[in-house]
Amino acid sequence: MSANLGDLRAQDRAHVWHPLFQHQVLDERDLLLVAKGQGATLTDGEGNTYLDAYAGLWNVNVGYGRKEIADAVALQIAKLSFYPHSQINEPATRLATRLAEILPGELKHLFFSNSGSEANETAFKIARQYSRQQHPGENRYKIIARYQGYHGFTYGAMSATGQVGRRSKFEPLVPGFLHVDPPYCYRCPLNRTYPECGVACVEEFEKIIVREGPETVAAVIVEPVIGGGGVIVPPPEYLPRLRQICDRYDVLLILDEVITGFGRTGKLFAAEHWGVAPDIATLAKGVTSGYLPLGACATTPEIFSAFLGEPGAGREFAQVSTYGGHPVCCAAALANIEIILRERLWENAARVGTYLLAKLQALDSPFVGDVRGLGLMIAVELVDDSGAVLDAERAAKVAAGIRQAGVIVGRMSHVMAGPESTFFVAPPLILTEAQADQIAAAFAAGLDAI
Ligand SMILES: Cc1ncc(COP(=O)(O)O)c(C=O)c1O
Repeated sequence: MSANLGDLRAQDRAHVWHPLFQHQVLDERDLLLVAKGQGATLTDGEGNTYLDAYAGLWNVNVGYGRKEIADAVALQIAKLSFYPHSQINEPATRLATRLAEILPGELKHLFFSNSGSEANETAFKIARQYSRQQHPGENRYKIIARYQGYHGFTYGAMSATGQVGRRSKFEPLVPGFLHVDPPYCYRCPLNRTYPECGVACVEEFEKIIVREGPETVAAVIVEPVIGGGGVIVPPPEYLPRLRQICDRYDVLLILDEVITGFGRTGKLFAAEHWGVAPDIATLAKGVTSGYLPLGACATTPEIFSAFLGEPGAGREFAQVSTYGGHPVCCAAALANIEIILRERLWENAARVGTYLLAKLQALDSPFVGDVRGLGLMIAVELVDDSGAVLDAERAAKVAAGIRQAGVIVGRMSHVMAGPESTFFVAPPLILTEAQADQIAAAFAAGLDAI
């Protein structure tokens, strides 16, 4: 390693606090120093290359190094580097218009923020204010989410999150967030088996709404496919039934499409798999493929119009952030979305995702308990010979073996109370079959290590 890289590592160690990371581990091994990205390939400081089968953090949908996004960003900085969204800027208006065209259902109004967490905060605030203005005699403020679901790190989004390791140290949480069990068929929390179960887990939403009193419930939030909580794909009836339950009790349905949006699951938006139209959808990650930070909360004319009224009546949405609707981030999003649409990347995600899923399901190892996914959003859950979650030591060996084979994958962390041995594969949507073979081979090599 050059002296320069050595210095950088020393400075990082002295000054940088990394997320979700036990810094004491640096006594034994270094973090990867990521220097360059092109397509689905990353290069580290020493010149080693890796296939990024995690697309950064589930988000680099179009792959790294797209010059047309770089050009759009440079042009916009030169033209108008920033102005707050209290007035109009062209890229934000064009982006809202583009999103209104491509989003499922009737999502025609967009509120921009800087991250998925903020998009969800916005959704909760819109849901609560809408409910107060729409149902004046009631007190609808509760939000129902799911265990194992993830909605972000900020207090509201964390309170909606159902992952113990991401919340317990930061309690008390925001009041009014409730949770039900996820549709995790591989280890069903209700001890049932699909399809005999009749998808009992979705009925938990109705039970909790009735018990709490519908007049106290503002919204339900779910990821169409749970991401970091284990890539949990619901049974086909689940989301349509959830939509019916929400309609029955006048409860808003928020779909968190932060991971699933922009092609990852093999449709442009995951809601399309089930023909479910949400009242609110939240977006981030793939909206810019990570070239710049951006989040968005999309909603219907019905909800938007409940915020109209005389000036001074206080019906407007009283939220602002300095950078929400940033013209440069919106220009990046527009260029990114044009690539996704032009190259029809959701179709590649469906095709190569199906191929890769089959390859991973064919892995010949007693440690592979379950391989599940949709499009290019896949989990490989490792188990021991009793079917329990594989212990941390062996899971770490598998992870090291995969990395040694030149592939970067994700790994569940801070979701469960006990050990976690679920690996995530969510590569850029430009993935080729040859690269899918490389990912499967890396898993085989990693499994050989135990
Ligand atoms: C489903 C989902 N929602 C929300 C978020 C939060 O997004 P951000 O990290 O941009 O705040 C994430 C992040 O991983 C996510 O996976």
